[in-house]
Amino acid sequence: MYKSILILLLVLGIHTLEAQSRWTTAAEEKAITDLMAQMTLAEKVGQMTLFTSDWDQTGPTLREGYREDIKTGKVGAIFNAHTADYNRELQRISVEETRLGIPLIFGYDVVHGYRTIFPIPLGEAASWNVVSAQENARIAAREAASAGLHWTFAPMVDVARDARWGRVMEGAGEDVYLGQVMARARVKGFQGDDLADPFTVVACAKHFAAYGAAQAGRDYHTVDISERSLREIYLPPFKTALDAGVGTFMTSFNEVDGVPASGNHHLLTDILRNEWGFEGFVVTDYTSINEMIPHGIVANEAEAGELAANAGVDMDMQGAIYYNNLVDQVANDLVSLERVDEAVREILRIKYALGLFDDPYRYNDLERQRDNIFTADHIAAARAAARESLVLLKNDQQTLPLAKTIKKLAVIGPLAISQEDMLGAWHADGRGANCVSVLSGIQEALGKGAAVTYLPGVPVVGDDATGIPAAVAAAKLADAVIVVAGENWTMSGEAASRTDINLPGRQAELIRQLHATGTPVIVVLLNGRPLALTDIVDYADAILEAWYPGTAGGQAIADIVFGDYAPAGKLPITFPRSVGQIPIYYNMKNTGRPLDFANKYTSKYLDESNDPLFPFGFGLTYTTFSFGTPEATVEQSRDSVTISVSIDVTNTGKRAGREVVQLYIRDLVGSVTRPVRELKAFQLVDLAAGERQTVQFSLTAEDLSFLRRDMSWGMEPGAFDIFIGNDSRATQRVSVVIE
Ligand code: BGC
Repeated sequence: MYKSILILLLVLGIHTLEAQSRWTTAAEEKAITDLMAQMTLAEKVGQMTLFTSDWDQTGPTLREGYREDIKTGKVGAIFNAHTADYNRELQRISVEETRLGIPLIFGYDVVHGYRTIFPIPLGEAASWNVVSAQENARIAAREAASAGLHWTFAPMVDVARDARWGRVMEGAGEDVYLGQVMARARVKGFQGDDLADPFTVVACAKHFAAYGAAQAGRDYHTVDISERSLREIYLPPFKTALDAGVGTFMTSFNEVDGVPASGNHHLLTDILRNEWGFEGFVVTDYTSINEMIPHGIVANEAEAGELAANAGVDMDMQGAIYYNNLVDQVANDLVSLERVDEAVREILRIKYALGLFDDPYRYNDLERQRDNIFTADHIAAARAAARESLVLLKNDQQTLPLAKTIKKLAVIGPLAISQEDMLGAWHADGRGANCVSVLSGIQEALGKGAAVTYLPGVPVVGDDATGIPAAVAAAKLADAVIVVAGENWTMSGEAASRTDINLPGRQAELIRQLHATGTPVIVVLLNGRPLALTDIVDYADAILEAWYPGTAGGQAIADIVFGDYAPAGKLPITFPRSVGQIPIYYNMKNTGRPLDFANKYTSKYLDESNDPLFPFGFGLTYTTFSFGTPEATVEQSRDSVTISVSIDVTNTGKRAGREVVQLYIRDLVGSVTRPVRELKAFQLVDLAAGERQTVQFSLTAEDLSFLRRDMSWGMEPGAFDIFIGNDSRATQRVSVVIE
C-alpha cells in the first residue's frame, strides 16, 4: 500500500515537474526542462526567431549576418534554404558552433510538391479524392525531407469564395466540408504517422484566420466578418487540421474584428489554445508582426512584439521583432518569462519530435536525396493526380475524346508550349524544364501518325492579335483545334488579385474566330482561379479545366483528350458568369425575397442571372449517370442521431466512368438562418457501362450541427431536406424530421 502510494506520488511528481505533450516522452520533457534551465533569455528569443536564407536561382547564399546569428544562438529556424548539403552546413554551425548546440528547424513552402510537382491544391481538390491528396502530400514530404527540410508551410486551409483573390489556387476552394477533408488528408500525408520518421515533415495550417475573406478579393485587405461566419465557415478546416495532429499554425496577414491576426489573443489563445487545446507552435506569416504598425494598432516595433507575444505568437517569421525587442520587453515586465518559456518549450518539442536532438543531420543525407527526389514513381503519381484534377466543363456532341487516329490537329496558344506554366505558383523546387507541356503530351500520345501544327495565336496578356489569321488558317486545315488558354502562372498566387476574371488579352477573340471556321474547338484552360467564361462558352465545343496540373500535366491532359482516361473532376469552387456576381458560392442563404422572375422586388440583378456559369461540384465525364429516388431512415435515441441515406446510381452511358456522388442538406428552419445547401458527404463511385450501385451515406447529429442563436454548437430538431446528385444543384430529394 505504502509502496503504491509512493509510486503514485512519484508519478504525480513527474507530472507536475514536466508539462505533458503529445510530441514528447517524459524523458524528453525533462531534457527540455534541463536545456531551458541553461538557456539565457536571448537564446530563448533565438528559438522564437525564423529567418529566410538568400536562396536564388544561381545558388543559395546565406547573408553573413545570418551565419553569425546562427552561431550566436540568435536564430532557431531557417526557411527557404534547401538541399541536404546546404542545410547540413547551416545545421553544423548551429549544432557545433553554438553554446548549447540546439539544432535548427528548416522550413519551406512545399505546397504541392517539392521537385515533382502535383496539381495546384485547388486542382487537387477538384479530384475530390482524399486518398490521392494524402498520397501526394506524402510524396511531397518524402522529397522535401530528403532535401534537408523538416517543415512545410502547408496546407493552406483558407476557405476562399472570391475568384478575384489570387490565393484561391492554394486551398481547397469555397466549401467548408471539402476544405476539412482535404485539410485532414494533407496534414496526414505530410506528417505521416510519426514525425520521427525521417521521410515526413511537420505541417503548418495556414493562414489563421479568415485570410480568404479579404474584402473585394484584394490580397492582404481588411476582413470584416461575424464571429458566426468565422466559426462556421472559416475555422472548421483549421480545427480539422488540428484534430489530424498538425504541429504548427501560421497566423494570417489580415485583421479579424479590428485586430491583426498576429496580435489577436482571441484567435491565438482563447480559441486555438484554450478552446481547441492546440499543442504545437504558432509562427507568424512573413513580417506580419511588423505589419501591425501600418495596420495602425501599435506605434512601434517594441509594442508590436509585445502584442504578438502576449497574443500567443511563438515564432516571428523574418520580422526580427522578437530578435530586436523581446529581451527588453521581458526585462520591463511587458511580456512574462512564462510566456517566452511556453513558446520555447513548444518549439523544442517539435524539434524533439522530428528526431533532431537524436541526430540533427538525419535529413541531410546526399544518397537519400539522390534516391528519393523526382523518381519514376513520383512522376507517375503526379500524372495520375493531374488526370484526376481535370474538370470537363463542356462537351457538345461528344467532341472529346478525340480518336488517336486523327490525321490533322492544330494546337494553338503560347500556353501550349510552356513548361513553366504547368507548375503554378508555390512550386518549391519544381522546374519548368522537367515539365511536359501540353503540346509535348499530345505529340507523345499521337506518335508520328498525325500531323500536329502548333501556332501561338495571341499572347496570354496584351493586345497583339496579329497571330489570329495564321491560327485561323491552320484551324481550317485541321480536323480539330486545341486552344490552350488561360492565365500565366504568375497571375494567381500571393499578391496576384485581379478585378477582371475574363480570359486575359485577346484570347476570347481568338477562340471565337477559330470557332467560326467550323472545325471543332477544344479549349484547355490553365489557370489558378475561376475564370468568367461567358465570352467563350458558346464558341467552344469542349472545355477542359486543367488548372496548373504540374510536372506531368501535358501527358495527363493528353490522357483525357484521347480517352485513355475519363475525366472525373468536379469544381471545388463556383465559376461565375461575371465578376459582378462575386461573392458567389453555392451555400448561400435564401434571403426573405428569394428570386422570383414574376416579382420585381426579389433578390436578383437587372443585367445578369443569379446562377453561376458552372456551379460548385460540377464536372462532366465521357459517360452519363442517373440517380434513383433516395431513401432515408432516422434512428434517434436520447443522445444520438443517425440518418441512413441510400440511392441507386447507374452508369447509363457506353463507357466506364467515375461519379462523385454528393450529398447536401438543408435545415429548413433554424434559430438562425441556414444555407440553402450544405455539402455533408460524398463518395467516389466507379461504374462500368450499364452498372448500378446502391450508394449509402450515414449522417450524425454533428453533420446537422451549427452555431445556434446562443452561440452554442449543436443540432436543432426539425425538418431537413437531403439532396443527392452530381453537383450542388442536385434535385433528388428526401426529407427527414428530427425530434
Ligand atoms: C505567405 C505564406 C508563406 C510565407 C513564407 C508569405 O508571404 O503568405 O503563405 O508561407 O510567405 O514563404
